[in-house]
Amino acid sequence: MDAKPVTAADLVAAGIERHEARWLLEEYGPNEGLELSRAIARRVAGEPLQYILGHWPFRDLDLLVDPRALIPRPESEELVTRALGELQRQHLTQVKMMDLGCGTGAIGLALVQELGSQGIKTELVSVDLSGEALALARENRDRHHLANVAFVQSSWFESVDQKHLGTFDLITANPPYVGEVEFATLDPILRYEPLLAIVSPTGNEVPGFKDLAEIIAEAPKWLSANGVLVCEHADIHREAVLAAAHQAGFATAEDFDDLAGKPRILIAKMS
Ligand SMILES: C[S@@+](CC[C@H](N)C(=O)[O-])C[C@H]1O[C@@H](n2cnc3c(N)ncnc32)[C@H](O)[C@@H]1O
Repeated sequence: MDAKPVTAADLVAAGIERHEARWLLEEYGPNEGLELSRAIARRVAGEPLQYILGHWPFRDLDLLVDPRALIPRPESEELVTRALGELQRQHLTQVKMMDLGCGTGAIGLALVQELGSQGIKTELVSVDLSGEALALARENRDRHHLANVAFVQSSWFESVDQKHLGTFDLITANPPYVGEVEFATLDPILRYEPLLAIVSPTGNEVPGFKDLAEIIAEAPKWLSANGVLVCEHADIHREAVLAAAHQAGFATAEDFDDLAGKPRILIAKMS
């Protein structure tokens, strides 16, 4: 006799939220007994849904996601919108970009894909300290057949070839920005993601600010005369990012809220 198909209600009864139950059923199908049961067990044990599915949408891309890199967040999709807005204002026909702390590759690859679909030529240098994250980002580049994307293993700008100094139209960054003390208070589900992707030490006497401070201070050297830095940060960092951008010599610096109304995205311009 065939087993009864699993329903969303069964998954909810097992302790899974309804919207996640729908994702799981869509992925595995209600009759895929063993695979679905394994996925349910992993989710009930606390693993993030995205790692169980192994892929997740980001903008127009379906990205491979696994514990080698952070799960891309909706706030970073907003960062892409802001970055595209800045580029559109400049009417560029080709764009040279660097994505710092690329993780799965999400931000940079989405920009390449969306600018490409507007007929704009792109060149992207994606940087991460984690070799594992870079391997995953390469898989995502290949999965989406995106051209002119290079990967560099580096602590921020440290090992980026100096030939790129002063040449980037856009630098995007979503560095780790959660303070060590705050991290201990957050949802334990975050412990499935790489710590290197989430936690940053205190910098400029501000918790979680060390990596942002380094990026903002160094970025002007790598940007072109009209270059722009677009950077994601914690909601407590507005004052610190604006001060750091002015100190670094940017001509203008503005900070924007995310869709949840929290301070989130710095835009600092060279001219
Ligand atoms: C918050 S995650 C962002 C990942 C991806 N950009 C995204 O938005 O989904 C931060 C990334 O920065 C990388 N990272 C941490 N410290 C770094 C460093 N010193 N230099 C370069 N990358 C670093 C981590 O490995 C991680 O991939």
